[in-house]
Amino acid sequence: MKETLLSALRFRHACKHFDKTRQIPGEDLEFILEAGRLSPSSMGLEHWKFIVVRTPALKTQLQGACGDQPQLGSCSAAVVILAKKAELAPDSEYVRALLKREVPQAEYEGLLRFYADFAQRVDLVAWSVAQCHIAAANMMTAAAAIGIDSCPIGGFDPAAVREVLDIDGRRYEVALILPLGYRAQPQPARHRLPLEALVEYR
Ligand SMILES: Cc1cc2nc3c(=O)[nH]c(=O)nc-3n(C[C@H](O)[C@H](O)[C@H](O)COP(=O)(O)O)c2cc1C
Repeated sequence: MKETLLSALRFRHACKHFDKTRQIPGEDLEFILEAGRLSPSSMGLEHWKFIVVRTPALKTQLQGACGDQPQLGSCSAAVVILAKKAELAPDSEYVRALLKREVPQAEYEGLLRFYADFAQRVDLVAWSVAQCHIAAANMMTAAAAIGIDSCPIGGFDPAAVREVLDIDGRRYEVALILPLGYRAQPQPARHRLPLEALVEYR
């Protein structure tokens, strides 16, 4: 089990060029999306929405919105991860319904008050985007576990991405774009700091 997971983590890398001739089977795409859906989120608010882009013309337009990065045009599918914004307003039906699942009835009103206070103190959009990155990480690991490559793309023009996909910017922030497919080139050497440089036991 440990080796299986480690080999998936080692297989994953930021793939720069995908094999344009290979398409991800639908059931594999669903497996990857399911890994995103099952991800943890702060207060269980499932901050994400996934737009799966497979149409060649749309992928080409997305490439333009991502500084012409070739991953977008060559991938089999690009998952555009949107972070919820409007739905996170403290009085929204969405927040009320999802927080209700989190606690016993007796604690619900207290949780709503806590959330209303929290929402005033934090940057809700940054908080929402952070949750989406957790879903993205799980999707990348799930993809790697079944031999599918990915590359997280943060280098995009948000307004241009919104325009390509007709996304309401009041409702969603573009969090990350995740092209998926099969590598066209060998995996490059990986560079990581050693654990000793990163970990302190106390
Ligand atoms: C939030 C985030 C945004 C990223 N944006 C881009 C990007 O726009 N283009 C790109 O080629 N790689 C992007 N990367 C990939 C990183 O450059 C890459 O993960 C890092 O250099 C380590 O390489 P590895 O993933 O191959 O191990 C991004 C990674 C993360 C986590």
